[in-house]
Amino acid sequence: MRISVKAPLKTILAGEHAVVYGYPAVAVALDTYVRVTAEPGDDSFRVETELSCEGNVSAEITRDGNVKGFRSESLHEELAYVATAVRKASEEFDAPPSNLRITSEAPPASGLGTSAAVTAAVLLGLAEVSGVDVSREEIRRLVREVELEVQGKASWTDATVVTYGGFVRISGREFEPIEPERNPVLVVAHSQEPSRTGEMVRRVAELRERLDIVDGVMELIGKLVDDLEVALRNGDLRTVGELMNANHGLLAALNVSTRALEEIVHVFRSAGALGAKVTGAGGGGCAVALFEREEDAKRAVETLSALGYEAFVTRPSPCGVKTEDSGS
Ligand code: PMV
Repeated sequence: MRISVKAPLKTILAGEHAVVYGYPAVAVALDTYVRVTAEPGDDSFRVETELSCEGNVSAEITRDGNVKGFRSESLHEELAYVATAVRKASEEFDAPPSNLRITSEAPPASGLGTSAAVTAAVLLGLAEVSGVDVSREEIRRLVREVELEVQGKASWTDATVVTYGGFVRISGREFEPIEPERNPVLVVAHSQEPSRTGEMVRRVAELRERLDIVDGVMELIGKLVDDLEVALRNGDLRTVGELMNANHGLLAALNVSTRALEEIVHVFRSAGALGAKVTGAGGGGCAVALFEREEDAKRAVETLSALGYEAFVTRPSPCGVKTEDSGS
């Protein structure tokens, strides 16, 4: 029996980092997916993944989440989400040793919630292999627990969006779907530098310890998220874009932007984006832009590709983590 599962990547339209401290965020699932196949194996969990920054990687994971056969610390960090999900699945579903194959339509460490998407897909895949009927709410809870263990601090954002899909407002553990009046065209561009969520969350926490103004910056981010949610519901994309621009400035104040991300954001704006910002943890990874017109979005992709950045037009997706038809 082979189970195939897909989980969407996500982009945060506003509120990353501040959401870790209880302020709201608005995020959306993308029509861009991580896929996991799971099938019963021999005596341990064998993982093949193309998600590593080091290319294709195979590793063996024990029931208690130890990774064997990895070559470097950085690789271990990337596999930590998978290994922790395997341990949770062993504890919660009594998952049998299985072979897991992980692929993604986006580059690893891109700030698009890849770790949460992989975690959700591994958990659902192993629940299915174990014959356990798992609720979405349980998946969401387990994804959050895995993120907390690996990152130290995590909001409910990624766990919620990869599990449920669509546009979501998150505040603490509460969430509410948003039905926008108009669907925007989104472009995501990768800075070609990796973004490590755990490390960036730790850096912002350190900055917050040292600088009193960080709480004020986060409060402003929370306020602009409230305004952005209203504008999104009303189909006022111009205001949504302006608030994304303001959010980018505040993320730069938290020191999570880079030279490459700044270049991308300015290319987006010159190409006619209504708004553009870092998305996710930053320090590398991606920027996202909101366009009204598809032709402007495509022009931005061409310009960014010519500059050596990987960029693609994507759409909001209503679908959260789910099984797909697969060969037996
Ligand atoms: O980089 P990503 O896609 O994992 O997003 C991280 C978002 C943060 O707010 C920085 C962390 C969190 O847990 O919400």
